[in-house]
Amino acid sequence: MKQRNIVLAITGASGSAYAIRLAQVLLSAGHHIHLIVSGAARQVAAQELNVGIPADNAAVDEWTDFIKTALTSGIAAAWGFNKWSTEFSGTCSVHGIGDYSAGIASGSFLTGGMVICPCSMGTLSAIACGSSTNLVQRSADVHLKERRPLVLVPRETPLSLVALENMTGLSRAGATILPAMPGFYQRPACVANIVDFVVARICDHLQVEHSLMRRWGETT
Ligand SMILES: Cc1cc2nc3c(=O)[nH]c(=O)nc-3n(C[C@H](O)[C@H](O)[C@H](O)COP(=O)(O)O)c2cc1C
Repeated sequence: MKQRNIVLAITGASGSAYAIRLAQVLLSAGHHIHLIVSGAARQVAAQELNVGIPADNAAVDEWTDFIKTALTSGIAAAWGFNKWSTEFSGTCSVHGIGDYSAGIASGSFLTGGMVICPCSMGTLSAIACGSSTNLVQRSADVHLKERRPLVLVPRETPLSLVALENMTGLSRAGATILPAMPGFYQRPACVANIVDFVVARICDHLQVEHSLMRRWGETT
């Protein structure tokens, strides 16, 4: 399997668990992730997972340890996340949200795609109007202009007309709108299964191989 550069931005919508599982899948599969975390994402993760996200300038080992701890302790362990591998053959770079000198701020830096998971309505709106006021928005804009995969995982309910129109515009511009809307037809037994439903679809759209769930129509 070829290692790919994938941008993973985590913003302040509910659903930190999706991001942690996605990071685990990408790192276990040997990919290189470029991580960007918004200030609001830190607040949400503290609330939802009861974990503190490292500072942007923390050592990479501190970040990978954080992902392992978030999977294996506290609420995520109770949700069934602690059965997943924490042997990572992939690697990780972490970029400050205001660091426009990062490679991923430029179209000349090649990536296999970007995912914003979860994606807040605030970030969605900024990307829809092309404002590029932080590295998440700039990197998303780069993925649109370079016509590379950009997967947005919004979470909000109900959706205002403003949010719906932003999503329509982004879909027209080439982004994939993949809401955190798990299905239940696979009969999930635990929260981990529900999270995997969404993460599996994200991986499909990033063309990342996985075996997170049985595909509908497959017999084994
Ligand atoms: C616990 C918590 C849960 C939140 N859930 C959502 C949500 O599901 N969707 C959303 O769009 N915003 C949500 N927000 C609000 C965003 O975090 C806020 O709009 C923020 O400005 C987004 O900034 P960002 O896009 O830079 O991360 C939540 C905030 C907190 C503290």
